[in-house]
Amino acid sequence: MTLQTVILAAGQSKRMKSKTSKVMHGLCGRPVIDYVFDTVARLKSKNTVLVTSPDLADLPWGRCKVVIQDPPRGTGDAMKFALPYLTKEGHVLVIFGDTPLISQDTLNAVVAQGQKGCDVVVLGMDPLDPTGYGRLIADDENRLLAIVEDRDLSTDQRDNPNLLCNSGVMLIKASHLASLLEQVQSTNAQGEYYLTDVVKIANDKGLNCQVIEGDEEEFQGINTREDLARISCTLQNRWLRDAMSEGVTLVDPSSVILSYDTQLAPDVTIHPHVVFGPGVTVEEGAEILPFCYLTDCHIGRHTKVGPFAHLRGDTRLEEKSEVGNFVELKKTTLGVGAKAKHLSYLGDAVIDSKANIGAGTITCNYDGFNKFVTRIGEGAFVGTNCSLVAPLTIGAGAIIGAGSVITQDVGQDVLALTRAEQTNIEGGAVSFRTKRQKKVKG
Ligand code: UD1
Ligand code: CA
Repeated sequence: MTLQTVILAAGQSKRMKSKTSKVMHGLCGRPVIDYVFDTVARLKSKNTVLVTSPDLADLPWGRCKVVIQDPPRGTGDAMKFALPYLTKEGHVLVIFGDTPLISQDTLNAVVAQGQKGCDVVVLGMDPLDPTGYGRLIADDENRLLAIVEDRDLSTDQRDNPNLLCNSGVMLIKASHLASLLEQVQSTNAQGEYYLTDVVKIANDKGLNCQVIEGDEEEFQGINTREDLARISCTLQNRWLRDAMSEGVTLVDPSSVILSYDTQLAPDVTIHPHVVFGPGVTVEEGAEILPFCYLTDCHIGRHTKVGPFAHLRGDTRLEEKSEVGNFVELKKTTLGVGAKAKHLSYLGDAVIDSKANIGAGTITCNYDGFNKFVTRIGEGAFVGTNCSLVAPLTIGAGAIIGAGSVITQDVGQDVLALTRAEQTNIEGGAVSFRTKRQKKVKG
């Protein structure tokens, strides 16, 4: 069966109280709508149309045809904008851009119902609190007769606990779509064109409409900031559970935050209060100590990170390397067994295996205009509190004395020192004190 998909995302996001459309708000590391795109991509839809608002028109929506609906006058009106981009073959699946949890299996079940010859299929659900949802008026054989929006319900309908709610997912036979939408009116409480009205219209035409029931959790829509936070929690709990079942130790799962693409290998240990931004892979046996923020980085096997480390910007820790407290790494590779254990900023650096970076050492990688690279060779030892002014290469086995400001390359096995010579004055402290005390009394 040919499948075409329309994603509706042109609503005003009034309840978010935001200048940004709700479908573009971040959810665990990427926009809400990307979850929907991913699921739709797995359905192998022949054709995907996104109906959206003018403020989103210029985004790089490579994955679909984009239609602008302005002003948004309801889901039925939105579908009319999509019509010119759809063919009359097969079925059209309608899904909302603000419901990121819907699974591929659930959508496949809807499509399968269409394959059996249904003209219209609606996914229903039975939420604890039906407030705000459209209600499905069906007969005993799951034949769907009409959908009534929450604001248009009669008292009897509102009080009827047996009515399922509309999840928003609908499958419509493509050849009927245009004639059904043509008859949708805006004579309702909100003065909008409701896509949901096509069910009654289809029944009047003698078409076959069916309901199938799905799991409420999947259909949670994001209308408010509270919804966004709740759905984020749902995803986090799911992923944390999956990680543990795959062999990851989470000392306190409730304080760990993952991203949609976090990859944790078996026998990784994550201590409390660790936050993963997008793009992190952690290999087997690595241990992340408390209070770390990791984003866009690869943490190798049997490494140790933290506490209080910040890794970002395409950083790579090779096997058995160690990063300690108050260390920030940006676009830096730390070689096998290399260590930076305390109070450092290492940016745009390539640090070879077994090198040791002393406490307080900083790569001076930026001159206000450009970024420069620091290279530190195998087994080099950088003493504490050094400033390494890039571009700079320090050879293998070199030693940099503590407190040095290094501006020139250092060769292999060279000892480099830039400290001013120290002067020790015998009894100098006594004479200093005597002078000061006289001044105070005088
Ligand atoms: C809709 C359904 C309701 C269902 C609920 C499930 C209608 C009329 N009502 O109500 O039966 O129970 O979803 O969550 O369909 N949109 C547009 N253009 C518009 C209006 C909306 O593209 O003119 C998009 C929105 O961006 C959103 C989706 O359609 O992604 C749903 O719109 P929303 O306003 O959230 O509908 P609900 O009131 O939640
Ligand atoms: Ca909604």
